[in-house]
Amino acid sequence: MSSTPLQIVILAAGQGKRMRSSLPKVLQPLGGQPLIRHVLAVSDAVLREAGSAARPVLVYGHGGDQLQAALADADCRWSHQASQRGTGDAVAAALPHIEPAGRVLVLCGDVPLLRAATLRTLLHAPQDALAILTAMLDDPTGYGRILRDAHGEVRAIVEQRDATAEQLALQEVNTGTLLIPAERLAGWLGRLTADNAQGELYLTDIVAMAVADGVPVVGIPAAGEAEIMGINDRAQLACCERELQRRQARRLLQEGVTLRDPERLDVRGDVSVGRDVEIDVNVILEGRVELGDGVRVGAHCILRDAIVEAGARIEPFSLVDGARVGPGAVVGPYARLRPGTELAADVHVGNFVEVKNSRLAPGAKANHLSYLGDADIGARVNVGAGTITCNYDGANKHRTTIGDDAFIGSNSSLVAPVSIGAGATIGAGSVISREAPAGGLTLTRAPQKSIPGWQRPRKKPAQ
Ligand code: UD1
Ligand code: CA
Repeated sequence: MSSTPLQIVILAAGQGKRMRSSLPKVLQPLGGQPLIRHVLAVSDAVLREAGSAARPVLVYGHGGDQLQAALADADCRWSHQASQRGTGDAVAAALPHIEPAGRVLVLCGDVPLLRAATLRTLLHAPQDALAILTAMLDDPTGYGRILRDAHGEVRAIVEQRDATAEQLALQEVNTGTLLIPAERLAGWLGRLTADNAQGELYLTDIVAMAVADGVPVVGIPAAGEAEIMGINDRAQLACCERELQRRQARRLLQEGVTLRDPERLDVRGDVSVGRDVEIDVNVILEGRVELGDGVRVGAHCILRDAIVEAGARIEPFSLVDGARVGPGAVVGPYARLRPGTELAADVHVGNFVEVKNSRLAPGAKANHLSYLGDADIGARVNVGAGTITCNYDGANKHRTTIGDDAFIGSNSSLVAPVSIGAGATIGAGSVISREAPAGGLTLTRAPQKSIPGWQRPRKKPAQ
């Protein structure tokens, strides 16, 4: 193996006019990640397998600042293509980073679903060959067509706009993924001309050059149509999104998750699952989500950066964001857990309850219509309907502390900073602004009055 067995160039300089967006095309989100992240992930995997230490070279042009900001942490090298004169010119822009040894794999930044397994089959091509990943498409419109001779040998690629009617009928297309002997690359690129319908330097013209130079050329068909899909417009972006979602749903099914409908799940991040997890329809999982054994997620829930431990249930229409839900806990329906929420074992948080930056100890319950912010709530505490922690004085946030086994009567306001002792009872409708002692009853309430025989005012008769 040479010291640079495999190098990768990713083409991402195109503007993506057809997206009609101010965001560079390769930053459009797919599965919650910019398109280009998917391409970088597969190229990293392939480089690793090939034992190559060469970092991928990203050719950028439009929106360079946005791109570099979005990929600040990406382990790649950057080449600037000053004006977008075609895919051949784009690869030429990367040449200063390319060593003339081993092979160069060219990937398009707008083809995000390519799998490492498919690239592996391409890499099986002979070392000295120019290998093209091709695909047979029912509708090949827009793609470059693969021209083969009577013996089935690849002779050239012709672009849609340069093709004859006869060539347009060919269904085998160039996926845009080429594997090129590195020592030949600079020479071929130097001979490209813009003598074509688009007046561009086509990378694809090196195929005919290779044939003329006696370099073996192989076309290797990809297994699936979906994974080679290039994204040029929003319709194709939507198609790829669905395809990616199907792929992720299949993976979860294989891992033993019950999905009520695999077509109605969206994963926009990384999900890890235990055994016998069940997910109902229209659930969105974002960021890092961990679902323990036997977790059930009801319909229409959003879980973002969430850990849900074994046996917990997230009931329909709940949002769990930056929170941990302990074993056996029940959340929702219609609950909102915000960042910093930690629910211990068997906690219940019910409908229209919002919890932020708060800890609820084992067995605590807040079943209806509450706001619990910046609070530490003890074990088995019952938080009555309508209880509000008044955590914000207009300038600062303050904490509320509630001891184990306390009972907070409905519609109480707990004005923080405040603490309620263990086993304390707060009478319904109280406004608590000072410490409520452990074990006792504390309430603030105007005395109730009754006036017997009270006459309601009457309207004066019209004059
Ligand atoms: C290209 C191929 C076509 C193939 C198709 C697969 C050429 C000439 N054509 O066509 O055979 O079927 O991909 O999807 O190669 N780019 C640059 N700089 C440029 C031009 C393009 O970086 O000057 C980048 C784009 O950002 C994109 C990729 O190269 O990521 C492909 O360019 P695009 O214009 O989309 O090529 P297609 O017309 O799709
Ligand atoms: Ca394209």
